[in-house]
Amino acid sequence: MDYIKQIEDYIVSKGVVPETETRGLLVYSQDMNNGDCCLPCFKLSKSMRLAPVMIANKLKDAMTDLPSFVERVESVNGYLNFYFSRTAMAQSVLDATLDRGDKFGSKPQNGKTICIDYSSVNIAKPFHIGHLLTTVIGGSLYRIYKYLGYNVVGINHLGDWGTQFGKLLTAYFKWGKGEQTMDSLLELYVRFHKEAEKDDSLNDEARMWFKKIETGDATATTVFEQFKKITLAEVDKVYKRLGIVFDSYNGESFYNDKLQDVVDELKAKNLLVESEGAMVVPLEQYGMPPCLILKSDGASLYATRDLACAEYRKKTYDFDKNLYVVAYQQNLHFKQVFKVLELMGYKWAEDCVHVPFGMVSIEGSGALSTRSGNVVKLIDVIDTAVEKTKAIIAEKNPDLANSEETAEAIGVGAVVFGALCGSRIKDMVFSYEKALNFDGETGPYLQYTHARCCSVLAKAQPTGKIDYGELVDDDTFALIRHLNSYDDIVKSAADKYEPSILTRYLIDLAQCFNKFYIGHRIICDDKNVMNARLAITLAVKNTLKNGMELILLKAPEKM
Ligand code: ARG
Repeated sequence: MDYIKQIEDYIVSKGVVPETETRGLLVYSQDMNNGDCCLPCFKLSKSMRLAPVMIANKLKDAMTDLPSFVERVESVNGYLNFYFSRTAMAQSVLDATLDRGDKFGSKPQNGKTICIDYSSVNIAKPFHIGHLLTTVIGGSLYRIYKYLGYNVVGINHLGDWGTQFGKLLTAYFKWGKGEQTMDSLLELYVRFHKEAEKDDSLNDEARMWFKKIETGDATATTVFEQFKKITLAEVDKVYKRLGIVFDSYNGESFYNDKLQDVVDELKAKNLLVESEGAMVVPLEQYGMPPCLILKSDGASLYATRDLACAEYRKKTYDFDKNLYVVAYQQNLHFKQVFKVLELMGYKWAEDCVHVPFGMVSIEGSGALSTRSGNVVKLIDVIDTAVEKTKAIIAEKNPDLANSEETAEAIGVGAVVFGALCGSRIKDMVFSYEKALNFDGETGPYLQYTHARCCSVLAKAQPTGKIDYGELVDDDTFALIRHLNSYDDIVKSAADKYEPSILTRYLIDLAQCFNKFYIGHRIICDDKNVMNARLAITLAVKNTLKNGMELILLKAPEKM
């Protein structure tokens, strides 16, 4: 039930405060002592020329016919606090939550389309820890938007174009033998840079090979396609374990034959200017350096491809929103691209959103650089977390059935949760110790709490009529309040492109449940009480499971 909406309508119906200013002011109270929701009257003060305290008092006096689910209303220091009937709220929240079950994706289709560009790996480069955030933030947003009823298009905008591939082919034909792996490709890449420092002619050769890729030379293309296959097979192993999916792998090279149109269009719209032999769109006026479209040798750039790509996505998917989950280092790039789209006259430029995030490092490992070959591979991080989990299980619960599968779920979950738990823009240091702490604010803690609910429910299930009046003490009611905000939380995570809002919520919910669990006997003699407590346990279990699914976490029933 949408309590906020109902109370808002009720307040407005009193005619005491101006409607437009009042809508949107009502919030759920953080502290139960301040009621269940409240209206801060401060913003109304100016136009009403009345002190907030007076406004709250006036409203309270007019409220002689409270809606049935509101028990009382209080005016305190400029706030109007509404206290809900706990029994009524327990009933509507539990009914709604249990009705949803543990089925993921239950919202009706809303007819809107959202494109999400994430992970977007580079061919022949290691899939390293630096790709963790784009992959899991994008993967989580993908599920969140699906859950909210969007038509979601997940796109892996492959980095499969650029002069570096000329270098790789040069190295391959000089020093590469037999079948290649991701590791040997990295070695070739590193070796090229070492040798080219001494021998500049290698760079000429690299340019020659890149030309060959550009012109579709058979040898160059076959080898390059092979490299692409090797890379995708490797990253796919990680995607499978993380539960990440894509609907399109159209990367940079896909736009090769669409670039001329972009250049022609920019010219026709008088946006293109020559600058030192290159073609650019000047953006000084908007406080940015010019957007480079063609180099002096006529070669296209990253931005040229992104312009073609945005137009293609609009034409193909007719998106309502087009997200790019890419590190904050590319802030300027996206600002430039979106500005150029706007200058081209595309109203939908405002629907393109860069969703930036900070850097990840692993506790105790040095700086990362592909050129020097010093990288921490994502798959190694996952493997390490799973191995450490196995050791923990062997110590704590050696008889656990399905221990391999459970260790995989916990280890992967620890890494994913570790990446999703902080606000995305902050740089983060990943620590195995912290991520695998079953008592901390971690993925395993959520999984453990879910398994705890399952083990209670394995003993007994709620049946028949529930006596909601048994769920009104503070600890239990706190849980009801939490369950009630689930939908708002998911929506807010989507609106802000911030899965951490959901991770935070799930931790709070789990902590709240554990407090309830420790303070109340669920399986008890009073059948009426037991039934009500089982119902809330089931509602928490379902909500945890639903929410964990949205942040890519598996929910084992035993651990
Ligand atoms: N491959 C790029 C990188 O690793 C990210 C691509 C992001 N997507 C885009 N449409 N530019 O930096």
